[in-house]
Amino acid sequence: MDNMLARTGGRPARRGPRVALASVVVGLSAVATTMAMASGANAGTTLGASAAEKGRYFGTAVAANKLSDTTYVGILNREFNSVTPENEMKWDATEPSQGQFSFTSADRIVNHARANGMQVRGHALAWHSQQPGWAQNLAGGALRQAMLNHVTQVATYYRGKIHSWDVVNEAFADGGTGARRDSNLQRTGDDWIEAAFRAARAADPTAKLCYNDYNTDGQNAKSNAVYAMVQDFKARGVPIDCVGFQSHFNSASPVPADYQANLQRFADLGVDVQITELDIEGSGQTQADNYGRVVRACLAVARCTGITVWGIRDTDSWRASGTPLLFDGNGNKKPAYTATLDALNGGATPPPSTPAPSTPAPSTPPPSGGCSATVALNSWNGGFVATVRVTAGSSGTGGWAVAVTLPGGATVTNTWSARATGTSGAVTFRNVEYNGRLAAGATTEFGFQGTGAGPTAAPTCTAS
Ligand code: G3I
Repeated sequence: MDNMLARTGGRPARRGPRVALASVVVGLSAVATTMAMASGANAGTTLGASAAEKGRYFGTAVAANKLSDTTYVGILNREFNSVTPENEMKWDATEPSQGQFSFTSADRIVNHARANGMQVRGHALAWHSQQPGWAQNLAGGALRQAMLNHVTQVATYYRGKIHSWDVVNEAFADGGTGARRDSNLQRTGDDWIEAAFRAARAADPTAKLCYNDYNTDGQNAKSNAVYAMVQDFKARGVPIDCVGFQSHFNSASPVPADYQANLQRFADLGVDVQITELDIEGSGQTQADNYGRVVRACLAVARCTGITVWGIRDTDSWRASGTPLLFDGNGNKKPAYTATLDALNGGATPPPSTPAPSTPAPSTPPPSGGCSATVALNSWNGGFVATVRVTAGSSGTGGWAVAVTLPGGATVTNTWSARATGTSGAVTFRNVEYNGRLAAGATTEFGFQGTGAGPTAAPTCTAS
């Protein structure tokens, strides 16, 4: 897809065939990034063209009933090369009566997209919300069967026309538990998510299959739980290709400091990552700066393949009063639009007030040999997430081991981007295959989650 986008000058080649936003933010230094800088001559003049120059798509949520609004369609056709039906592919819209499918509204969007060379994100096959009444009244085996039939029928109908499917949406609970969200689907058994992914793959082997959620944009208990699920799916061969980060931000739920690092750790599991429902409440330069940060974070992660904003004009938004989008109610470009385009073109210097994702770690200077490690801790009552930054000394590393001492009663329950020996007391974390070899001064990050209190003593790092 990415090459196809690049070759078609901003349009993808046609293919044949009220959230709780409080999130836990981990304070950590962002990893050093290498951001491709486009030459001025190559800089695109629309969101889609500029994203395509970076091998990405830039999409928007679309409502079928707005396709007769000429201002709306003018912006859509000019700026975007991907669309997501905002509501029209959901279960209540596509199967209002059991076994009777209705694709009229969704088809309007898909046909418009294909006629204008845009790709389509399918949203969403299995979700606890926006279920038709008949499904809400089912349980157990009957519901499981109905859900799988729905996934199969809808994905089959659109086979070959969908770039990425949100196969399962919002299946994890908010808060610090990392538990699955209670729902009628969840009550059919823990394996409902993988069953949905298997059914989607069988129905449309050409679409990328995504898990999509909100409040997973930084490292926290919820995103750690999604991470563990994806890791498990990859290990067991459950078909999953991508993870969607909805990225609904406002002052209560700002762009996390570790947004880029969080995208990267998922990408390191071997899946694409996509920003799927971006909107940022606010106005003026502050809002613009935040949009710039999000775009730069995606560009700095090789497997971040595209960005979708959740609507076109502020007045089109599901939370219009927060003016969270790139165009005002009259369709004029906002400062957020300019910052987004500048970031896509790679030419804008982050404003000094903005904690740029590429800010180098203010950590201990690299040692002359060996390696050093620092820990950023996010704790809550009864648990913690530790993000550890490893910095190679002047000789570089062929591998590394970081020794951490946990307080009494603390237990490591989950580790990413490292292998742990031990779960309590003195625990040693060693590199995995891809992050052991570091050039002099280079850094990498790993993390672990635990119950009890997090480590307070400084870690020690040994290079090999
Ligand atoms: O179409 C009817 C209209 O006929 C009726 O008069 C009106 C009365 O309320 O309702 C209209 O339907 C509304 C629909 O949006 C279309 O505007 C629904 O009530 C309303 O619930 C629905 O809201 C959607 C919401 O999902 C439902 O959960 C939003 O448009 C949509 O933006 C939002 O999108 C979700 C993503 O799917 C998943 N992630 C979160 C995101 C934001 O909540």
